[in-house]
Amino acid sequence: MADAQNAAAAPRVTRREDYREPDWLVPEIALDFELDPAATRVRAALKVTRNGGHDRPLVLMGDGLEPLAVRVDGKDAAWTMEGPDLVIALPGAAHRIETEVVIAPERNTQLQGLYASGGILCTQCESEGFRRITFFPDRPDVLTKYRVRMAAEKARYPVLLANGDPVAQGDLADGRHWAEWHDPFPKPSYLFALVAGDLVANRGSFTTMSGREVQLGIWVREPDLAKTDHALHALKLSMAWDEKVYGREYDLDVFNIVAVDDFNFGAMENKGLNVFNSRYILADPDTATDWDYDAVAAVVAHEYFHNWSGNRVTCRDWFQLSLKEGFTVFRDQSFSADQGSAAVKRIEDVRGLRASQFQEDAGPLAHPVRPDSYIEISNFYTATIYNKGAEVIRMMATILGPEKFRAATDIYFDRFDGTAATCEDFVRCMEEAGGVDLAQFRLWYSQAGTPRVSATLAQDGGKARLTLKQTVPPTPGQPEKAPMVLPLKLKLFGRVTGRALCDEQLVLLNRPEQELVFGNLTEPPVLSINRGFSAPVVVETDRTPDQLAFLSAHDDDPFARYEAMQQLMLDTLTAAVRGAPFDHGPVIEAVRNTLADTRLDRAFVADAVLLPSDSFIGDQMDIVDPEAIFRAREALRRELATALAGQWRDAYEANRANRFEYSPAAKGARRIKNVALGYIAASGAADAPALAFRQFEGADNMTDRQAALGTLVNGRSDERAAALAAFYDRYRGNALVLDKWFQTQALSTRDDTAEAVEKLAAHPDFTLANPNRARSVIGAFGVNQRAFHHPSGRGYRFVADQLLALDRINPQTAAKLLPPLGRWRRFDAERAARMRAELERIVATPGLSKDTFEQASKSLD
Ligand code: ARG
Ligand code: ZN
Repeated sequence: MADAQNAAAAPRVTRREDYREPDWLVPEIALDFELDPAATRVRAALKVTRNGGHDRPLVLMGDGLEPLAVRVDGKDAAWTMEGPDLVIALPGAAHRIETEVVIAPERNTQLQGLYASGGILCTQCESEGFRRITFFPDRPDVLTKYRVRMAAEKARYPVLLANGDPVAQGDLADGRHWAEWHDPFPKPSYLFALVAGDLVANRGSFTTMSGREVQLGIWVREPDLAKTDHALHALKLSMAWDEKVYGREYDLDVFNIVAVDDFNFGAMENKGLNVFNSRYILADPDTATDWDYDAVAAVVAHEYFHNWSGNRVTCRDWFQLSLKEGFTVFRDQSFSADQGSAAVKRIEDVRGLRASQFQEDAGPLAHPVRPDSYIEISNFYTATIYNKGAEVIRMMATILGPEKFRAATDIYFDRFDGTAATCEDFVRCMEEAGGVDLAQFRLWYSQAGTPRVSATLAQDGGKARLTLKQTVPPTPGQPEKAPMVLPLKLKLFGRVTGRALCDEQLVLLNRPEQELVFGNLTEPPVLSINRGFSAPVVVETDRTPDQLAFLSAHDDDPFARYEAMQQLMLDTLTAAVRGAPFDHGPVIEAVRNTLADTRLDRAFVADAVLLPSDSFIGDQMDIVDPEAIFRAREALRRELATALAGQWRDAYEANRANRFEYSPAAKGARRIKNVALGYIAASGAADAPALAFRQFEGADNMTDRQAALGTLVNGRSDERAAALAAFYDRYRGNALVLDKWFQTQALSTRDDTAEAVEKLAAHPDFTLANPNRARSVIGAFGVNQRAFHHPSGRGYRFVADQLLALDRINPQTAAKLLPPLGRWRRFDAERAARMRAELERIVATPGLSKDTFEQASKSLD
């Protein structure tokens, strides 16, 4: 580890190869909560059974707990503490263990375990939060049946919820009441949940394919009730979709979702009682953008799908996290694709993958989809586990084809139902049903780094020879890489007629180099490769600007079409940044043609005509020059804006109609309109601020209002301040919308944003205690390449200061803000030195959490 002082106290590393079955199992637990924000008494009665012929004691993990009573088979028993854990020597094969602790939810600022959020008591246990509630073998391969009784003051906490089905409830003396819940499905402790609060439900019901009626409830505080219809609708769609596509039915009589304002991530799939960050539940046209609506549906689906991929079949250990997360992301992506345009969904998912996962894979925190070690598991809820993990499942689905893939998932769910499985178990099911050998494919689980493919096509009369080469870059701890299996969909098009010269082929590139020959060519071929983004790799080709422009107009795979345009833009921009000769002409012509093609979906057009982000351009460079990238991108943007001024105006006017509707067509219209507004502003047109301000004031929905605000915030007009003030006044009482106010400013492309965020962090409405608010400023700023990398280094200092302050309150969320600082190797010596200095300051801070220590020390290595 990086720092000598801390090395002595370096936190323990957990290794995958050290996995051992649990010594003791817990078939049943009865929990009794006397709920109170200041002092909640938790009594637990565990039935424990010895697992195998050993004489090791029972170790019950704790985190900050003090045992007030410990009984074995009804009698006070001897126990010791080993660090945070409770150790009890037991003579027999089965015993009844009782423990008692008192915890303080209102002082739990980490938001792990039992905590208070805006007057609601709720839990978050994944990964290791249950041990902050009671002593327990808190590991995912211990599956237990839970019975939960809780009592609380009735006026403050009229609603008492837990996993499973409600059993009984009643009133007590002194204004308290109680409820009992029972979950018949054995589950790991990370899926435990309870909620107590003054909540109301948007109720619905769903009849499963076998005819069982399930009561659905979306629980929120009363004023938010009107914003829950979209989530409830998405839940019903998800339940029907999982039956139709995977044959998976819901299994309890109730399914509840609770929204809370303070939450470390998106949501949590607790059995029968999902707990959500309110930003992924609440939506109405006045406060949520189209992006928010889509995200609500996707996260509701994701957590619901976990009922099978995660809950019925869970993970043996946390190294298998992608078993549930990668698969479930793949499932929610497929669900969303089925609700609207699959092509646009794929484009967005790939854009997200490149922005987060490719960066992660190229930096100091790169790790395999199935990691080998960790210090703090919370640091491994990453784009690699989730999004690359989803790509790995998608590749297997591509290799098997839809029927065999479905047969494989049937085997997987049936065989491993009620157990804690591994990634290896999943792959074996794929092999079995697919009749394929995935031995080499398994490298996707063990090797980190984004493979690179180079493809060159050489024509020779009526034949063409395609040479494919692959390399996988070194990553921390993995200097040498073996060649992987890369499923590449490809096709050739004729440059003269635009016709396909062959059917689409699926090539499994599994050697360092492979050649393919195509015959009977009647015209010069143009290569379309990695269609649909069939493999999560970087492809380098020698295609000319002319060929890319041609594909952007003629490819019959919408993703490939988008990709050709992106590549054309990237080639132009990187040439400009490097100071090489470049020509804006082909980009302008390609954008002109795409805008003019009335057959295309407007949402697709909006995606296709957007320039790659500053940071994606930076990812193409050896050393990132944020200012040069910004200038090159702005120059091309301005040229596109002026050369196509009439078309942007037309696109704006044609899609101006302002009657909110949440449909793919209406979303597409808003999307292209707002992209057009951005270009109109980029042209420097004198009326642009007034146009944006008019849209801002007249909008009947948040998509249009926020887009107009964003356009103004990037500029220097008088309307800017007016819009910011109006937005603040209108939404100051709505935390989720106020997050947008902060975030829009932290994302501003202006050159004074590094200064502006310091003021934002001093604003009375800013707080580190709420993760959404913290992320809206610090998280957003960290991905604003130009602003964060301000040459003065003030951006680095700001993020480090905030991160250290947050680390004392909420280490999990603090550690997530670190990765932008860890990318120092990609920048010039001066910036790199400033970034390293901040990392060193962080690592040297006394009392640093192991979450932040792990991220910072690995980033320095
Ligand atoms: N399982 C949750 C999901 O649906 C996320 C849990 C995140 N936990 C954590 N410790 N970061 O994706
Ligand atoms: Zn998940």
